[in-house]
Amino acid sequence: MCILWVFWFFWCLMACLGVAWLSLCTLHRFQKNPTVISLERNYLDWNTTLSALSLCPLLKANQEEVHRVARFVFSGDLEKGVEFLNSLANWTYPNLGQIIANHEIEPSDYQDLLMSLRVNFSYILPNLPTIQELSLSMTEVGICYSLNSQMAFYGDPRFWMSNGWNLRKPVTLIHGNPLDVAELSVQVNDIKVSFNVYLHDSEEVVDGSSNSMFPVRLQEAMYLDTNVLSIYSTDATRKLSVQQRKCRFMDESNLETSPVYSYRLCQSECRMHLSLKLCGCIPYFYRNSGKYKVCGSTGMNCLNKYRDRLLKLREGNKREECDCFQNCNFVNVWTTRVLQGAWNRDTVVRLSLDSYPRYRLKRDIVYSFGDLLAQMGGAAGLCFGCSVLSIFEVFYIITLRLFLFIFKYKQLMKPIDS
Ligand SMILES: *[C@@H]1O[C@H](CO)[C@@H](O)[C@H](O)[C@H]1NC(C)=O
Ligand SMILES: *[C@@H]1O[C@H](CO)[C@@H](O)[C@H](O)[C@H]1NC(C)=O
Ligand SMILES: *[C@@H]1O[C@H](CO)[C@@H](O)[C@H](O)[C@H]1NC(C)=O
Repeated sequence: MCILWVFWFFWCLMACLGVAWLSLCTLHRFQKNPTVISLERNYLDWNTTLSALSLCPLLKANQEEVHRVARFVFSGDLEKGVEFLNSLANWTYPNLGQIIANHEIEPSDYQDLLMSLRVNFSYILPNLPTIQELSLSMTEVGICYSLNSQMAFYGDPRFWMSNGWNLRKPVTLIHGNPLDVAELSVQVNDIKVSFNVYLHDSEEVVDGSSNSMFPVRLQEAMYLDTNVLSIYSTDATRKLSVQQRKCRFMDESNLETSPVYSYRLCQSECRMHLSLKLCGCIPYFYRNSGKYKVCGSTGMNCLNKYRDRLLKLREGNKREECDCFQNCNFVNVWTTRVLQGAWNRDTVVRLSLDSYPRYRLKRDIVYSFGDLLAQMGGAAGLCFGCSVLSIFEVFYIITLRLFLFIFKYKQLMKPIDS
């Protein structure tokens, strides 16, 4: 008798362990890895957007304005004032640099000051397929002007100043389809300053570590042919948590400096916190509602010493903890041909898509909550031979059946009592 009990107890225990183990495996898979990335080849069915184009002037300050401000603020020493303002304007990633000491201007005013010192960036945009202008943004590489970007607007110091945090209607990006006749391209004409050109995804920004950069001097023509490879996430993946899908959509910001999310913005913010940790202040080019101290000359010279660590976000082999997820929708851009040459008129930049991509990547759910339930049920069925019906049966036995049994038992007892 006893041996029979031990036997059954042992097998029940094994079955329980089996169910627990199988369920944990499936749960783990659901938590960690429920998505799959696959290749899509129906390229006639989707539109391709042209990458964003950011033009960042090399000369960061308008010299007339610099002299005017220097005369006004540094009345004693004009030369020192001019040098200070120029080196302040030039103090951007990836170079940073030394700054002379200064007590005339409050660090918290640097951002405003540099906005008013900015060079007059004039251009002409001929016949664009969508209504767009170049939008100004303050980045780690200084002030940039971006076309075809969803993000630039949120980096505009005037937007920061107004304490804006609302998402706005997405820009209609320049896009095309392989069945279109027209070539997908955009041209910016009549630029009167020298600048760096950055190409990037329209849901991404330029930051200090951006590397696809082309310097353009005065009176040059620059033609850039590009190719793209995009990865997009289906709407179904939005239902998963960020940890499950390991990526963030643009409108799922957890950043304190921006209402929209992108990987590089997250890295910038990480750099900002690292500056705070290393030197106790943050550079002027971040969005700052007065919560953090802005670096004066001492702070900036301190940051200059840590330039490489800040830029790479790693020290030796140790990476800084940034916790930045990739963008869920991301377009990788590269140039296939770059033509650059002297041009006897004001500078022209032309960006075009070399050829429409034949495939793209899709992130989708391969393992849904339904699958999770089915697998757990399967494990229970396998180990216990149990189903939804038997669960209800157990439930029924320990509630209604028990109640009826006790009730009947009492009824049966009554005649004997009386
Ligand atoms: C592609 O672009 C065309 C023209 O702007 C638009 O009518 C169409 O709906 C777009 N297709 C997709 C799949 O977004
Ligand atoms: C700005 O910095 C760069 C790199 O350090 C340097 O080559 C350039 O001359 C500087 N420009 C000004 C105006 O100081
Ligand atoms: C900027 O340059 C354009 C074209 O040269 C000129 O029309 C405009 O008045 C300038 N703006 C300022 C503020 O200097």
